[in-house]
Amino acid sequence: MTVTINTLFDEDTIAARVDALAREIAETRPERLLVVAVLKGSFIFAADLVRAMHRVGLTPEMEFMHLSSYGAGTQGSEVRILRDVESDVNGRDIILVDDILESGRTLSFAKERLAKRGARSVRVAALLDKPENRKAAISADYVGFICPDKFVVGYGMDMGHAWRQLPFIGYVVPDGETSAGETRGE
Ligand code: IMP
Ligand code: MG
Repeated sequence: MTVTINTLFDEDTIAARVDALAREIAETRPERLLVVAVLKGSFIFAADLVRAMHRVGLTPEMEFMHLSSYGAGTQGSEVRILRDVESDVNGRDIILVDDILESGRTLSFAKERLAKRGARSVRVAALLDKPENRKAAISADYVGFICPDKFVVGYGMDMGHAWRQLPFIGYVVPDGETSAGETRGE
C-alpha cells in the first residue's frame, strides 16, 4: 500500500509561527508559568514552544497529561486520563498545549480539571484549530494555524501510530486521488 502525504505547513512556516506564539504568550507576563502538554500528539509542538519561550525570556516548567478519548464524534464520547499532572498547579498560570482543537472535548476536560485544582489561569495553545466540528464551548487563546477539514499527520500527529516523526505538517491524500505530493511507501 502506498500513502501520499502533501505538505500543508512546512518546517520554516511552523518555526516562525511557534516563535510568534511564544512572543504573544510573553506579552501576558505569566507568573509561575507551567506548560502542560497533552500527550501524545503535542510532544513536538510543546518541545519547540518551550524552547521558543526560553528565547523570549520566559522560564516555564513542564508537565504532561496523557488523555485518550473514546467514541470521538459520538454523543457518548468520554475522555480518560492515562497520566495526570503531578505538580501543584495552585495559583499558577498554565498554558495547556495540544496538537489539534477539534470537537474541543479533550481540551475542555483538561482545562476544567486544572481550573478546579486552583490554577490562576488556564490558557489553551493549539497548534491547529479545526473549527468545523466543535462540540464543546471552548476556543484556543493561541492558535498556530487554522486547519482545513482534512486528516493531518506529522510534527507529532499520527494516523494509526504512524507519521509522528515527519518534521512538517501534511495531509493524507485519499487513495485514488493523484497529486504532485510526496509519496512514501508503507
Ligand atoms: P477533540 O478536540 O477532543 O476532538 O480532540 C482532538 C484530537 O483528535 C487531537 O488532539 C488529535 O489527537 C485527534 N485528531 C483530530 N483530528 C486529527 C487529524 O487530522 N490528525 C491526527 N489527529 C487528529
Ligand atoms: Mg490529541
